[in-house]
Amino acid sequence: MQKKTGVLIIGSGAAGLALGLHLADYCPVTILSKTSLQEGASYYAQGGVAAVAAANAEDSYEAHIRDTLSAGRGLCQYSAVEFVVKNAKSAIDWLINLGVDFTHEINALGEKEYHLTQEGGHSHRRIWHAADATGKAVKDTLDQRVRAHHNIELIEYALAIDLIKKAGACIGAYVLEDKNHHVFSVVANAVVLATGGASKAYLYCTSPVVSSGDGIAMAYRAGCRVANMEFNQFHPTCLYHPKENSFLITEALRGEGAFLRLPTGERFMQHYDPSEELAPRDVVARAIDDQMKKGGYPNVFLDITHKSPEFIREKFPMIVKRCLALGIDITKEWIPVVPAAHYTCGGVVTDLDAKTDIKNLYAIGEVAYTGLHGANRMASNSLLECLVFAQAAAHSILADFADTCADESVEPWDEYRILQSDEAIVIAHNWDELRRTMWNYVGIVRTDRRLERAMHRILLLKQEVKDYYEHYKVTRDLLELRNLVLVAELIVRSAQQRKESRGLHFNADHPHTDFRYDGGMTIL
Ligand code: FAD
Ligand code: SIN
Repeated sequence: MQKKTGVLIIGSGAAGLALGLHLADYCPVTILSKTSLQEGASYYAQGGVAAVAAANAEDSYEAHIRDTLSAGRGLCQYSAVEFVVKNAKSAIDWLINLGVDFTHEINALGEKEYHLTQEGGHSHRRIWHAADATGKAVKDTLDQRVRAHHNIELIEYALAIDLIKKAGACIGAYVLEDKNHHVFSVVANAVVLATGGASKAYLYCTSPVVSSGDGIAMAYRAGCRVANMEFNQFHPTCLYHPKENSFLITEALRGEGAFLRLPTGERFMQHYDPSEELAPRDVVARAIDDQMKKGGYPNVFLDITHKSPEFIREKFPMIVKRCLALGIDITKEWIPVVPAAHYTCGGVVTDLDAKTDIKNLYAIGEVAYTGLHGANRMASNSLLECLVFAQAAAHSILADFADTCADESVEPWDEYRILQSDEAIVIAHNWDELRRTMWNYVGIVRTDRRLERAMHRILLLKQEVKDYYEHYKVTRDLLELRNLVLVAELIVRSAQQRKESRGLHFNADHPHTDFRYDGGMTIL
């Protein structure tokens, strides 16, 4: 089967849906979602969206730019940072107009005042949030709008396998309909990757199962440049609990005064950074890792019990409820936490119009490398990047739209792979081995030897997965593993190229920052 559309958007997170809504009044749009419309990192975002409310004495664009550049440790592209920061407030206004209910209060004059919270690396309160479930508030609104739009076709449980190119341009994608194992092709005037990040490459992560780096792998196979893959962000505070290994405890807790403590009760962040608990994430995650290793502790604790129970319940209702269900009353008890993989700072290289190296192929959101984050993403700059680049991509796609006309003749999907694998367990074992290897050898602290060992194992796994892919019918598990193993290779190759330590990449054999790398990026 072959379908035809105006714009094919692969991914239904904040980036994909925002773009769909910007475009749909002007051209037909098809959005693919690997599982349900809702599922993706966007839905689970807690802290919020960073934006300077009004440039004044309290905060300014310059301050947001400065903080982002400082977190990015000399590797952000200034033009991208300035572009995102200056378009941030209009992205917030767009969401408010759509109906997103950010947390607010009514002041003494009877006016509506938004409550802005604080997170690591930000010098001011500038995080717009909906209590501690901002992603849900944003996604519920976008989901509803997308479902209601007559010009948007939504295909759920549909996984893009690979991009289709003709005469150097992208003209569509092959797609697996997960429920009935059927492969079809979609031809489009423009194709947009909005597939999110690749944190599933690691055994422990805060991200949902869909974050398997599919877009990065598809773009790389198609011939796009991929940059800065060594900068995988580890969030310092993922809940440590046998029944919940991916539940994030938002950085906004530290923004509102929570302390990190060792099991002995001692605080330790003062030994690592003058900003203590509000230092950027790379510093906090490494400090926790260091303390856990030195003390042989399985976890550290986050303590907000010095705030009143009313304050905690009002600011963090979702976290209070989820922890209580696990037997932890955060108004009275410390929360056990560990760092976990959280965000992919690198990705498919794009310009400020979200264009990739391939004609008619765009990338937005976590899948993209725009130059905004450098060596370490600052909290709440990611949803913002999704929204600002969705708008930029829409302008660019519509400007080029009349000139593009997809050649519709496409090779049908190669159906020779008719054998049904009788060894699905091998795929599960390979998934596990890959994610353990990445966790053990390519984590918060790396060494040359560990990277070498990781590469050796990854290449063996890659060969096994290739054999599987060539001989058996494709399944979601197999396709995601094929993508993850490639992304893991890209992460390790990038890490091996960087003979220094900077931001999220720390190599104990090269512990210092080398200024010769300033302003550059690792390109594969
Ligand atoms: P996602 O929201 O991850 O969506 C990806 C979409 O692509 C999904 O619909 C998926 O099904 C689809 N997809 C993937 N592969 C395929 C394929 N092959 N075929 C078809 N569809 C595919 N950032 C902030 O700025 N503020 C926060 O408060 C914040 N909190 C976070 C909390 C958590 C727990 C996590 C994990 C991340 C958080 N982040 C936060 C980061 C931020 O949420 C993400 O970077 C952002 O939401 C990414 O949006 P996206 O649209 O690019 O991808
Ligand atoms: C958090 O709420 O701590 C996550 C924010 C982010 O990843 O930007």
